[in-house]
Amino acid sequence: MEPEMLVLGVESSCDETALALVRDGREVLSSLIASQTDIHAKWGGVIPEIAAREHLTAIFEIYEQLLSDAEISPDEIDAIGATQGPGLIGCLLVGASFAKGLSQSLGKPLIPVNHVHAHVHGALLGINEDFQNIFPTLSLVVSGGHTNLYYMKDPTNFELLAHTMDDACGESFDKVGKMLGLPYPGGPHVEKLASQGSPGVVPMPRMVERKSNLSFSYSGLKTAVSHVINRSGPEQKSHADIAHAFQEEALGQIVRKLTSAMSIRPSVKSIIVAGGVAANSRFRELMASSFKLPVWFPPLKYCSDNGAMIAAMAYYEQREGKGGRAVEWDVFSRYPFEEYLAKDLSP
Ligand code: KG4
Ligand code: ZN
Repeated sequence: MEPEMLVLGVESSCDETALALVRDGREVLSSLIASQTDIHAKWGGVIPEIAAREHLTAIFEIYEQLLSDAEISPDEIDAIGATQGPGLIGCLLVGASFAKGLSQSLGKPLIPVNHVHAHVHGALLGINEDFQNIFPTLSLVVSGGHTNLYYMKDPTNFELLAHTMDDACGESFDKVGKMLGLPYPGGPHVEKLASQGSPGVVPMPRMVERKSNLSFSYSGLKTAVSHVINRSGPEQKSHADIAHAFQEEALGQIVRKLTSAMSIRPSVKSIIVAGGVAANSRFRELMASSFKLPVWFPPLKYCSDNGAMIAAMAYYEQREGKGGRAVEWDVFSRYPFEEYLAKDLSP
């Protein structure tokens, strides 16, 4: 029997300050999330500078509250996991600096965590299924920033099989939501509107038709929606029918790509779907009816960003001996800094 491990997870990559205490990667003792959605809603998207300052204001209070809710004293924490990226740099710095300070003062290891990978562990929180029945698995992270498909032979092994060539799935929900005049973030509002629409009324192009190409694409779908919205006269379609058609293809292409991926990785025992879009009930219905394998979706509270998934990921990293690395900020940068720094910029 391995000794129990209590991990504090710290998430601050975007607009949620989230902390959680998780035992052995699965049992959530307490999870708190301070969402900034209302603050950013009036801008129609997240403002990085405001987000970073909000994290700084919220993080200490959440930590105190978390300990008191779970009735845990700081010296009972065995390790601290913190999101190292990807994310907004000012926001990441708040969480990582907080976690680093705590790790030094408590003398406990700091485990840098990949936010996108951690989403997958959000789907496994609270379930009792033996990992022998889950892995190898095909896992999907469908969020506002990513649409990634991985083959995983164990909880810390992520082989990226496919990603989006342009927009992320959640991002396309948000953009289409904006075009339809819905509040930010658009995902849940588009889902609600789509449920009032009828199938077959609005034609929608199929993205990346070639089966051998596992990549996702959302940008053309967004353009198609904008053309339909802007039609006038008898060709004008109801917003509910447009939302319905968009959602069917946004989710339908994921089912098609997953079907192709199953044929190249036939040994998989399950499918895991994670990230904000995993909250969509049509998505859950489609997946359940399209595949015979067990499909694991996160409980709703762990679909969007949370500290519990970070703590769970950190637990597996530590158990596999992968924890304790230095935080490598550049690994997740979108910019080729090495190239940039090497450039001679003298006039
Ligand atoms: O994982 P997440 O909370 O944050 C990122 O790491 O991006 O995902 C947020 C995304 C947003 O684009 C949001 O619109 C989308 O998830 N989303 C949904 C639903 N709920 C949230 N998309 C479709 N249907 C939903 N019910
Ligand atoms: Zn996320």
